[in-house]
Amino acid sequence: MNNIPRHIAVIMDGNGRWAKQRNLPRSAGHRKGVEALRDVVKKASDLSVEVLTVFAFSTENWKRPTEEVGFLMNLLREYIRKELDELHQNNVKIVTIGNLSTLQPGLQEDISAAIKKTKQNSGLIFNIALNYGGKDEIARAVTKMLKEENIEDLSTVDKIQKAMEKYLDTYGLPEPDLLIRTSGEMRISNFLIWQLAYAEFYFTDTLWPDFNGQELVKAIDQYNNRSRRFGGL
Ligand code: FPP
Repeated sequence: MNNIPRHIAVIMDGNGRWAKQRNLPRSAGHRKGVEALRDVVKKASDLSVEVLTVFAFSTENWKRPTEEVGFLMNLLREYIRKELDELHQNNVKIVTIGNLSTLQPGLQEDISAAIKKTKQNSGLIFNIALNYGGKDEIARAVTKMLKEENIEDLSTVDKIQKAMEKYLDTYGLPEPDLLIRTSGEMRISNFLIWQLAYAEFYFTDTLWPDFNGQELVKAIDQYNNRSRRFGGL
């Protein structure tokens, strides 16, 4: 493969439908979704992708029944506990974006521990978007920027744009080159709305639990046939 995207962002959609097709509870779809995630992380790491960002829980997902929200939070905690050692052995560095301050304290502690343990790793940056919303991120960034910057330093649109990058949750990461959304939906659902400005979009009907490393390669192949001009000629 000639051109590996530096940063791949993924909207892991379709767990519920996968379960429904099999007359299983939605939770079974989420569980199978974790297996898909495990395979995709491994493949991204093997392919030397620099950053893999996954949309695990959005600021809008709180609208789901309490039971499902609780299940997803527990699943995430279980995932981190079970996978941390192997991720660490594979030199994966775990980071997060989103507002983690409202998550259960126990989950926050597990996430902090995972971030701390893998901080020095130099392989794949595995970025988990949790209680993440693009509008929420931008609003938090603006709030922080106005608090910390001198107003004179924000006197032009260019300066504001540059300053903003520093306050986004993704500060320090390259912008996504490729966005993947599974399950046939074609929207970005408040995901990385600033950072996706020049990303290539790949949509597939495959439901997330059926996605895997091989499907990731297919997406990258298609990405390789795109011509990226970034607004130039
Ligand atoms: C979308 O499917 C999926 C989610 C809202 C959660 C994504 C979570 C996982 C893949 C597993 C847990 C993640 C981690 C990091 C452990 P949906 O429920 O919206 O499916 P539907 O649209 O078919 O109902």
